[in-house]
Amino acid sequence: MCGIVGYVGGQNAAPLLVEALGRLEHRGYDSAGVAVVGSQLKVTKRAGRVRDLAEVLPKRTSGRVGIGHTRWATHGPATDVNAHPHTDASGTVAVVHNGIIDNAAALRARLTDQGVELVSDTDTEVFAHLVALSGADTLEGKVVDALDAVEGTYGLAVVHAGFPDRVVVARNGSPLLVGVGEKEMFIASDLAALVRHTTTVAHLADGELATVTAAGFTTFRRDLTRTQTTAREVDVDPSAYEHGQIDGRPRMYTEMLEQPASVERALRGRLDERFATAHLGGLEMDARELRAVRRVKILGCGSAYYVGQMGASLVEELARVPADAEAASEFRYRDPVIEPDTLYVAVSQSGETIDTLLAVEEIKRKGGRVIGLVNVVGSAIARACDGGIYLHAGPEIAVASTKALTTMYVGFALLALQLGRVRDLSVADGRRLVAGLQALPAQIEQVLDGEERIAEAAKSLAAAESLFFVGRVRGYPVAREGAQKFKEISYRHAEAYQMSELKHGPLALISPDVPTVAIVPDDELTDRNVAALHEIAARGGPLVVVTHPGVDLGELRAERIEVPRNERELDPLLLTVPLQLLAYHAALSLGHDVDKPRNLAKSVTVE
Ligand code: F6R
Repeated sequence: MCGIVGYVGGQNAAPLLVEALGRLEHRGYDSAGVAVVGSQLKVTKRAGRVRDLAEVLPKRTSGRVGIGHTRWATHGPATDVNAHPHTDASGTVAVVHNGIIDNAAALRARLTDQGVELVSDTDTEVFAHLVALSGADTLEGKVVDALDAVEGTYGLAVVHAGFPDRVVVARNGSPLLVGVGEKEMFIASDLAALVRHTTTVAHLADGELATVTAAGFTTFRRDLTRTQTTAREVDVDPSAYEHGQIDGRPRMYTEMLEQPASVERALRGRLDERFATAHLGGLEMDARELRAVRRVKILGCGSAYYVGQMGASLVEELARVPADAEAASEFRYRDPVIEPDTLYVAVSQSGETIDTLLAVEEIKRKGGRVIGLVNVVGSAIARACDGGIYLHAGPEIAVASTKALTTMYVGFALLALQLGRVRDLSVADGRRLVAGLQALPAQIEQVLDGEERIAEAAKSLAAAESLFFVGRVRGYPVAREGAQKFKEISYRHAEAYQMSELKHGPLALISPDVPTVAIVPDDELTDRNVAALHEIAARGGPLVVVTHPGVDLGELRAERIEVPRNERELDPLLLTVPLQLLAYHAALSLGHDVDKPRNLAKSVTVE
C-alpha cells in the first residue's frame, strides 16, 4: 500500500526519490508524487505509475531535500489532485502520509470555517494546513502542533520552504525508517527503498518523531524531549530487493522456485536430532512456561490466516493443546476475551498488516502473551510481540505470497514440535517429524519438477468462470489457500469448501462448467474423500485431484497431480505447492500480470 521516501544530502533529490519510489511499486499504489526543496518548494504528482510521474517531472527540479509517496486511494479516487504530497494554500509546506487520520472530517470542517480552501478529498491535506497554521517557530514545533490535532495512524514526512535543510518525520502505527549514508540521509516506510543506498537503519518507534538533516538525525517525542533511537546495521542482501523479472520470469515464479532454499533457511539451526525436538530461542519461553500453555490462538490475515489454520492443526496433533486460528481483522473488532494461559501467535510476512498489528496490541493491552511468526526483521509486528520466530524467507516482492507462506508453515511445525516435546510427544514421534522436516526442501523440489503437468491442468481450469477447491480437516486450509491464490491472480471465482459440507448445499452448483480442485492426501480420511469425489463426478463436475502416489481413485475421470509422501502431519505443506503453480499458470494463460494483481497491495496498512 502507500509508500514514503525521503532524501537529505548533497545530491539532487528528485531522481533519487523517483528511483526509491520505483522500489516500492510492488506494494501496490495508484498515484505517485514528490516534493523537492530547492530555492523554493516544488511539488509534482500524478495518478498512475511511477514512470508516469518521471515523465512529467520538470527536468529543472533541483534541490537536495525532498520527500516522495506512492498512494493507495482511501479518501477519494486516484487523481492527480488526491496524490501526495499535499501542500498548504501558499505551497510552503508539503506532507506525505501513510495511514488514516480518523478525525479528518471534523478537521476539514474546522479548517473550512477558518477560511481554508481544501482542494483534495484526502485526509492528509488537512495536515499540511495544520502545519502551515501553527505559530511555532521551528518545523518540529509546527509538526507537533499539527499532530496534537489529529487522531489516527500515521507515518508521515514533512518539508517546509522556510526550513530547507531538513525533513521532519513522525510515526504512529505506520512504519518509518531512517537510513544513514555518507553525509546524506534517507527516509522510507520500507527497507526495500533504502538498501541500495545504505543498510545502516533506524526504526522509529510509535509516538516518535525525527529531524533528519544531511548531518544526521535526532529523535524526540511529541513533548519535544529527546529519545535515544539509534541506527543499526541490518543483515540483508541488497540484491534480493531488486525488482522486476528475473531471467524474464515474474517474481512470483522465482519466489516459488526459491522455496526449497527458503524452507531450508527456516529450518537451519533449529532442529535437534539428539533430543528429537526444535529449538526456537526467539520464543523467550522456557520449558516450564511452554508446559503451562493451555491453548494456542493464531491470528493473521489472508493467506497468513490460512497457514495459521494449518498451524493450529499441527499444534493440536503434535502437542495435544487445543488450538485455532482466526482472521486478525475479525478478532480485533470483537472485544476478545484474553486468557492468561493462552499463547497467542501473530503470523505475518510483512510484519506491517494493520489488522494483525492491532490484534497484537489488543492482546498486550489485556495482559496476554503473544509471539510473532514474521518475515520482515524489525517490522512493527515483530517489535510489538513478546518474542517470536523469524521466517528467513528473504524479501518477498510478488504480491501473491508463496515462499513466505511455506516458511510460515515450517515455523508452525517447529513450534508444534517444541511444544509437543515438552509435553507428551514421544522421542520416536519427535524423530519422525525431525526427519520429515529435513526431507521437505528436496520434496518441494520434486513438486516443482512436475510443473509442466500442472501447467496443463491450469489451462483447463482457467477456462472456467467459477471453480471449487475442496479438502477435509488437514486438507481444508490447503484448499482455502489454493482458492485464495487462484482468485487473486487469475480473477476467477474460486471458492473453498469443506469436502464434508458439499452435500449440504454447494453440490447444487456442480456441473460440467464448474471444475473442482480436490485435496486428497493418503491418510485416515482418503476413503471418505474419494467417496465425495464420486458425488462430484456423478454430476459431471470436472476434477483435478492433488494427491499422493498410490491413492486409488477407482474409475474416476480426474486430472491427477501427485506430491511426495512425508509424515501425515506435515502433508499440508507439500500439497500447497502445486496449488501455487496452478494459480500461476492459470493467470499466465489468461494474460494477467501475476506480480501486480489488480486491486491488491503487498502490505495492507489501512484498516
Ligand atoms: C495472499 C496474500 C495476502 C497476505 C495478507 C497478509 O497471497 O499475500 O492474503 O497473506 O495480506 O499479509 P502479511 O502476511 O504481510 O501480514
